Amino acid sequence: MSHESKLEELRALREQARLGGGEDRIEAQHKRGRLTARERLDLLLDKGSFRETGGFVTHRTHDFGLEKRKYLSDSVVTGWGTVDGRLTYVFSQDFTVFGGSLGEVHAEKIVKIMEMAMKNGAPVIGINDSGGARIQEGVVSLGGYADIFLRNTMASGVIPQISAIMGPSAGGAVYSPALTDFIFMVRKSSYMFVTGPDVVRSVTHEDVDLEELGGADVHAGISGVAHYTAENEADLLYMIRLLLSYLPQNNMEDPPFVPSTDDRLRTDAALDSIVPDDPTKPYDIRDVIHRVVDDGAFLEIHERYAPNIVVGFARLGGHSVGFVANQPAVLAGVLDINASIKAARFVRFCDAFNVPLITLVDVPGFLPGTEQEHGGIIRAGAKLLYAYCEATVPKVTVITRKAYGGAYCVMNSKHIRSDLNLAWPTAEIAVMGPEAAVSIIFRKELAEAVDPDTRKAELVKDYRAKFAHPYVSASRGYIDDVIEPRFTRPRLINALEMLANKRDVNPAKKHGNIPL
Ligand code: HXC
Repeated sequence: MSHESKLEELRALREQARLGGGEDRIEAQHKRGRLTARERLDLLLDKGSFRETGGFVTHRTHDFGLEKRKYLSDSVVTGWGTVDGRLTYVFSQDFTVFGGSLGEVHAEKIVKIMEMAMKNGAPVIGINDSGGARIQEGVVSLGGYADIFLRNTMASGVIPQISAIMGPSAGGAVYSPALTDFIFMVRKSSYMFVTGPDVVRSVTHEDVDLEELGGADVHAGISGVAHYTAENEADLLYMIRLLLSYLPQNNMEDPPFVPSTDDRLRTDAALDSIVPDDPTKPYDIRDVIHRVVDDGAFLEIHERYAPNIVVGFARLGGHSVGFVANQPAVLAGVLDINASIKAARFVRFCDAFNVPLITLVDVPGFLPGTEQEHGGIIRAGAKLLYAYCEATVPKVTVITRKAYGGAYCVMNSKHIRSDLNLAWPTAEIAVMGPEAAVSIIFRKELAEAVDPDTRKAELVKDYRAKFAHPYVSASRGYIDDVIEPRFTRPRLINALEMLANKRDVNPAKKHGNIPL
């Protein structure tokens, strides 16, 4: 064979691999409004940066006629490339080959990529589009999944892991994405569930379709499994690129510094009056975040789940930060089970990856009621408490208004190793709100009062004067400074730079026992 024909053979094989399950199946994939595995990688990675590994791999199965149906690359495309010039490992399941189903070699290819990513300290992005375990390969497929679950777990907290769900993700297969840090789903085109509609119908007699059972809207708004939903595949892949821009490559690095033209000393007079005079009136905490961060850019995570707390990434003076903020515009910013879990997971992610935490506090307390108590608000609230206590990244708090009761302690108070606690003059730091407090401590007096309403109003006024401000806390040092809201941005940037070399460690242990 001449050199030329050898090269031709190689090129022909590459072309064969590129076609996956063939033109017809590629067309079928496009007709569903979906891109192919390789097209998705082209959008995710910097142009021309993808390098494939395992392009010549084929399955080794001899049952059910599979020996006659082999496809180069099998049903997953793996390799690496760059995102904004930074190394990123990828796998992209190919639905055109056996429905993207996972057998022995598919699993081996993913495991190989994950191990390279761990060794070389770079994120892994997994694009999921698969009919699940390859039925013809039986238990070998299950073993393959478990091999991946183990790698997901070992990589957790070492390298960022992001899952894109761009088609089916069913059965035990959902647990690989579930073990990763962030799950992105495409609306009306992706679904995740442990048991599908048919099994649900036969076991519980519920009639439910794919979308209602495990579509993107369900997982973003109800279960909380998905962190981000996109209208289409291109938008989803772009958002993953954006998310990566806030993250370090691995847990030994700091997030990238991205200088901005936004003035570090910029003040914003509108912040001085953003908190309404009436303490029961809401405002949108995201307005505060947008006004404070570099160029107003805030990447909100888990936006549609537990919107009474807001979490997400932004930059301050070029430094990547994670915001955790009570949202007075939803349920008065109360902490409930879902909000606690959402914020706890975010805090732990930021701590694992050296992203400093900025906490904005306006919280009336934990949500009362049997539903919450029976649902385990004690355990859920403890998760958030645990996450904050354990976190050693720079931690800064700004109390904008209410910080009541246990929620005061939980929301990164000074007592749980916060580094800098600032308050706006509108802050009210107390065991509870004036109305509730007066009703309890003056119950007898109010019952006996000639005019209970007038007496209560007087007592509330007194209580307010005594406690509904930040100065009692500041006099004890629980608050480091009371600041004019307009200076919040420069003060936060200064705090981050003051804390840039922070060192703090937890006691040596195998691992803690977070109240799961
Ligand atoms: C082998 C599979 C497959 C699978 C699909 N295919 N799923 N091959 N193993 N699990 C093949 C089909 O035979 C078909 O091959 C091609 O993929 C496309 O499938 P279609 O059914 O034609 O596509 P569509 O109508 O879009 O339906 C997609 C689907 C459906 C909803 C995913 O294929 C499906 O229900 N598949 C089975 C899903 C499932 O039950 N998987 C096991 C889950 S349990 P041809 O050659 O015709 O193109 C599991 C356990 C994991 O995963 C446990 C881990 C711990």
